[in-house]
Amino acid sequence: MCYDGSAEHPSAPETAAGAAAVSPGRRAFSRLLLAGSGLAALSACSPGEATPTVSAQASASLSATTAGTTATASAAATPSADPVPDTPEATVTATTPPAPEPSAAAAPAARHSLTDPASPWVVVNKHRPLSPAGYVPADLVQPRVRLATSGESALLNSTTAGAAEKMFAAAAAAGVVITLASGYRSFNTQIATYNRWVNAEGQAAADTASARPGYSEHQTGWSFDIGDGSGRDSFTPAFANQPAAVWVKANAHLFGFVVRYPWMLHEVTGYYYEPWHLRYVGVGTAGEMNARGITTLEEYFGLEPAPGYL
Ligand code: DAL
Ligand code: ZN
Repeated sequence: MCYDGSAEHPSAPETAAGAAAVSPGRRAFSRLLLAGSGLAALSACSPGEATPTVSAQASASLSATTAGTTATASAAATPSADPVPDTPEATVTATTPPAPEPSAAAAPAARHSLTDPASPWVVVNKHRPLSPAGYVPADLVQPRVRLATSGESALLNSTTAGAAEKMFAAAAAAGVVITLASGYRSFNTQIATYNRWVNAEGQAAADTASARPGYSEHQTGWSFDIGDGSGRDSFTPAFANQPAAVWVKANAHLFGFVVRYPWMLHEVTGYYYEPWHLRYVGVGTAGEMNARGITTLEEYFGLEPAPGYL
C-alpha cells in the first residue's frame, strides 16, 4: 500500500542540530525537491523492487537522474560469503510469543523477540515504545567507518557496527562514500532532539520526522543515519538521489540492513521517507524482505500499521 505524502512532507533533518539549521526557505525547497525525487523513490513501494537493480560499480557513477539504472549486482557489492553472519538470528531465543496481530498468519516464524530492544527483530514504532524506556545497549562500540559525528552518536551496538564496517567498505570499494551521520541516541538525547523539532516545526510536523523519547530506534543501537561526506542534501528528501542513498537502497540488504522508513509508507511506519535511516535486521531477514518486495518491518512481521501515537 502506497501513500503520497509529497504535499505535506517536511524536510527531514533527523538530528537536533539539523532541525534547528533548516530555514523556512530550505524547507520549501526541500518540499519541491521531494517531487523531483519521486520517480526514483516511487520504486520503494513497488513489488518490482524485489531484487537489487543497481550494481555497486554502476552506482559509483550514478547521477541524480540515473537512480533507476538497471544492472546486475556486481561482485564488488556482493559479499564473498556471508558478510554479516546472522549470529543473533542463530543464537537469540525468541522470548516473546508471536502477538495476535493482524496478518500474523503471514508473519515469519518467531526466531527473535519483537519487543526485546537487544533483539535484531525488535520493532519500535508509535505503537511500540522501547521497554524499558531508558534502555541502553550493553555493547555499544564505535565502528571503524568514516564518521560525520562524534560522541555517543558515533556508537552502534556491536553487531550493527560490524555490519556497517563491511557495508561501508563495500561501498567505498565501489567508489561510493558513505558516512555515519547519527548513530546511537540515548533517551535523554532524544528528548533534546525531539524538542528541537517541536520548537522548529510544531508538534504535528515533528511527529512525522522525529520519534518521541522512548520511541526511537536510534536508542537500540540497531539504527543509524548516513551522509555522503559532502553534506549535500543531508537529511532532505533529495538525499534519495545521492549516490550513497542509491547504493544503500540497492545493496544494504546484502549486509543485513533495510531502509526503515520507505517512500510513501508513512501511514504504516509513522514517518516520512528517510533514505538515510538504516536499520539492521540480519542478512537473512533483510534478504527475504528484499526478495519478497516487503519494505516495512510492520508488514514483514504482520504487525498493525502505526501512523500515530496511541
Ligand atoms: N527519525 C526517526 C523516526 C527517529 O527519530 O528515530
Ligand atoms: Zn535515523
